[in-house]
Amino acid sequence: MQKKMIIAIDGPSGVGKSTLSRLLAHRLNYVNIDTGAMYRCVALAARRRGVDLTDEEALVRLCRGLRLEFLRNDGQERVLLDGEDVTEAIRTPENSMRTSQVSALPGVRRAMLTLQRQMGAGGGVVLEGRDIGTVVFPEAEVKIFLQADPVERARRRCAELQAKGLEVNLDQTVADVMARDAADSSREHAPLVQAEDAVAIDTTHLNIEQVLERILAVVQGQVERSGTALERTVP
Ligand code: DC
Repeated sequence: MQKKMIIAIDGPSGVGKSTLSRLLAHRLNYVNIDTGAMYRCVALAARRRGVDLTDEEALVRLCRGLRLEFLRNDGQERVLLDGEDVTEAIRTPENSMRTSQVSALPGVRRAMLTLQRQMGAGGGVVLEGRDIGTVVFPEAEVKIFLQADPVERARRRCAELQAKGLEVNLDQTVADVMARDAADSSREHAPLVQAEDAVAIDTTHLNIEQVLERILAVVQGQVERSGTALERTVP
């Protein structure tokens, strides 16, 4: 039996990873795994349970006990934490900053790495994050690294939050995006870096369909080069 591919989509926040990974997974009939949402759930659970963000041991224990579920409901992806729908709650600016802090801790990353490898091991998955092509699945058949100008990424983040009825401030969002970029890129463990064999795509002046077409062309190229299966074939 041929194995379906593992597709890694890495890049900074606001670059279009979530939308593209979801569309790509839908087109290929693959499962989409949003690893950022996993770290976001750790940060939210820590706040709710009063776990200090500097207490690494307590955070690791918290990670081991978390029940995370990704559901697709009426075409919408929902994230459940211990049975509760936290899709919106994990994306507030405050939880985003806290997430940057917890995701820098090596113990937390190890716990999440184990989960992510289990979830992706069978192939037929699109994983999006910061370290998928470098650490989680360095052997992924397709690696995409998305980039975009930080001001454009902040504009996209504001539009997204506004559409959800939240108040936004562009200057503050640009500052937040740059602070998170700096934290994610400079941390000691699994920093945000482009894998040597990743294909880089700058999305600043491209719309979602144009980026999706480019990614699909990379996927198709890999299928032709290696004979990897897009669909699972019966032996
Ligand atoms: O992709 P996102 O914005 O939802 O990610 C939230 C935070 O989690 C971000 O600060 C970086 C971190 N993260 C990470 O360290 N490693 C990943 N694989 C995914 C996200």
